[in-house]
Formats: sequence, structure tokens, C-alpha cells
Amino acid sequence: MEQIAYVNGSFVPLSEAKVSILDRGFLFADGIYEVAAVLDGKLIDNASHLARLERSVGEIQLALPETIARIQEIQQELVKRNNLVNGMVYLEVTRGADTGRDFAFPKDVKPTLIMFTSTKDIVNAPSAKTGINVITVPDLRWTRRDIKSVALLAQVLAKQAAAAAGAGEAWMIEDGKVTEGGSSSCFILTQDDVIVTRQNGSEILPGCTRKAVVALAEERQLRVEERAFSVEEALAAKEAFITSASLFVQAVVSIDGKKVADGKPGPMTNRLREIYVEFAKATAV
Ligand code: PDD
Repeated sequence: MEQIAYVNGSFVPLSEAKVSILDRGFLFADGIYEVAAVLDGKLIDNASHLARLERSVGEIQLALPETIARIQEIQQELVKRNNLVNGMVYLEVTRGADTGRDFAFPKDVKPTLIMFTSTKDIVNAPSAKTGINVITVPDLRWTRRDIKSVALLAQVLAKQAAAAAGAGEAWMIEDGKVTEGGSSSCFILTQDDVIVTRQNGSEILPGCTRKAVVALAEERQLRVEERAFSVEEALAAKEAFITSASLFVQAVVSIDGKKVADGKPGPMTNRLREIYVEFAKATAV
């Protein structure tokens, strides 16, 4: 059966899911996206993703074409129509298609809303057991990375460089410090057992998984510090890991070809992964 996508009010076969070449998402990357995980047919931490969606569109003065409640219904309907068990729902909202290519916002143009799903067994992904290698690249992005914009060219190049080097993620570096991964938040566990992740701000995307992991760790009286760290600090750490909706919590076992600790996923990473999966299942909708 062909996959079903959602485009501006209709559920259609993927091959028929189309938007105009004048769509501002296509012409200007004038749009916002979200990716929510699906486990056992349910959306994970979706309230957090939809809250971030609302914030992102607000920051670029884009009005959502549907209410947040309706967007969640559409996500759920799409999961159902695709019989999706484990994977992700991608959603994107753009400023729509005008009659030409004017940079300034068009008037009376309805935003475009699209969604599609993909299949992935996030919980049993092989890299959860082995961990992943990362490379480092300069952070070439604009200075409003807190907005989940579809302008992802810097991340495309970063992740392509990682793929070409046989690595699973690229850590982006600015002023000698790690900002974040191409599509993930970065963490280390210091030798004195402090979980360190960069503080939120315009330099990084406020990761939903990051937020949940920090809260879950603090609830368990684990020490968490939100501050920037360097690659040298990560290489001297007990453990390193990344978080995202499409990976949950995943160990980083080498950086630029140098092992982190013994080059295997560490116990804290494994524990946080288990805790996150438990949280995910308990709060799925
Ligand atoms: N990326 N940082 C960046 C730059 C990201 O693109 C992402 C997510 C994250 C993690 O955020 P969250 O925990 O809310 O997924 C951090 C998604 C998964 C993507 O682009 O596919």
C-alpha cells in the first residue's frame, strides 16, 4: 500500500502529495518543521514538540493554519492511515505560495501544512548498542538556531561530511565549544559524574528530548550542569551522548577518530536511554 501524506487539509497518496513551486518553503526556506517519534502507534512527547512549533512560528510571525489540537489529531490520523507502529511523523508549515517571488511576507496567502511519516525502530536501532562515531565541523549556521527553521543547508553539509567519514553525526563547533549535533543535542558525563549539556539560547535548538532527559535526570538526583563544553572536555569525559526525537539517547563512542573513554556506550548513557524510553511509553498519545 502506498504511503499516505497530508497536504493542506487532505490525506493523499505520497506520489500525489504536491505543493507549488512558488511555495515560500521551497523558494526561501520560509518555514518551520517538527519531527515527533512514534512508538507502538503513539506520538512521543508531542506536547513539547507542538509547544516548540508554536514558539518557532511565533518567532517568524507565521500563523498556523490549524489549531495545535487539530494538528495533533492530523498527526494521529496520519499514523493510523499508514498503520505506523514505530517511526516518526514529519510536519512542516510554510508561509505558503504567493503569485511570485517577493521576499517580504505576502498578504492573504494561506500557510502550507504538510506531514508525512517514516518507519524506524528507534528503541531497537543497532546503533543504540554500538554507539556512534562523530566528527566535528565548524558551525556555519545563522544566529537564530532556537527557531526550528527548514533552512538546513549547514546541517546537510555537516551530516554529509559525517556520512562521508563513516560517522553517524557531526558536532558543530563555534568559538572552541560544541554547539550541538547536525540534528541532535550533545551531552557529556564528566569524570566526577556531572551530566553536562549546553544551555539553551539562540545558539542551539531547544531539543525536546534534551529537555525531557535533563528533567528525568534531575528527578533522580543526578547532577546536571547546563553550560558549553569543548571537544577536549568531551574526549576527557567518562561518556558522551546525543539526544533527539529520532534517536532518543544514543552513545557517542568516538570524536574525530579518537575514542571517548573505552569506546563503548557507558552505563549512564544506557541508563538515561532506558529512563527515556520508559518516559516515552508512559506519556505517548
Ligand atoms: N532534529 N538540534 C538540532 C539542530 C536538531 O535538528 C534536532 C532535531 C535536535 C534535537 O531536538 P529534539 O530532541 O527535539 O528532536 C537538536 C530532528 C530530529 C531532525 O531534524 O530530524
